[in-house]
Amino acid sequence: MLPTPYVSCDYNKVYEPSEDSFLLLDALEKELPSLEEKFADKLSIVCEIGCGSGIVTTFMMQNCIPSKNTLYFPTDINPWALESMRETADKNNCQTNYLNPIRMDLAGSFRPREVDVLVFNPPYVPAHDVPNVPSHKSDIDQWLDLALLGGDDGMVVTNRLLDCLDEILAPEGVAYILFCARNKPEQVSERIRSWGWNSELIEHRKAGWEVLSVYKFYR
Ligand SMILES: C[S@@+](CC[C@H](N)C(=O)[O-])C[C@H]1O[C@@H](n2cnc3c(N)ncnc32)[C@H](O)[C@@H]1O
Repeated sequence: MLPTPYVSCDYNKVYEPSEDSFLLLDALEKELPSLEEKFADKLSIVCEIGCGSGIVTTFMMQNCIPSKNTLYFPTDINPWALESMRETADKNNCQTNYLNPIRMDLAGSFRPREVDVLVFNPPYVPAHDVPNVPSHKSDIDQWLDLALLGGDDGMVVTNRLLDCLDEILAPEGVAYILFCARNKPEQVSERIRSWGWNSELIEHRKAGWEVLSVYKFYR
């Protein structure tokens, strides 16, 4: 089993790594051989949307996922998360010249079909609304709400991403997205298949009263 990165952030400002983060690490570890095979010979672009503390991107950097020849572009809407991302990569002795954290809504500023490996542990908890983006960096509590609350079925933010997945993902690209059971991931999987894409369940786990799963989507 690959080691989990060392993370120490201010969890009043950024999402504390939890069962969902660890399930994503396990899914990526399971996928390592197939990702290495697929991306061995090329310069790859990885985008983790919503990097939070930076645990997932740091894990990918430490283990050269998908290859040694990779540029990492973690994004987050929370400005504190980008600082934590850099600190976590530093603390784990990652080569930060391959790391370019960007403050961004989802993956909005990439060129079309540029991202080879996309990873997203979204705000997936069902709620009345997705909170508004706070106007000030100092509105600390509100940034954490954005990490959790996913609106109707917990799917509002994830659906925004799925709607532009075809535009973001490179022709050979793969996306790993985390769901809870209340997101109805089987229905999402059917929707993706209806586009003529592939959808595979990579990992699932009961976490307290939640069942979490990671799906892989690709053309
Ligand atoms: C559940 S946390 C996951 C954090 C980290 N990836 C992990 O696995 O521990 C969701 C993250 O998504 C970020 N986020 C929420 N909405 C976003 C958006 N529209 N664009 C980019 N990031 C967003 C939050 O700030 C938060 O850091």
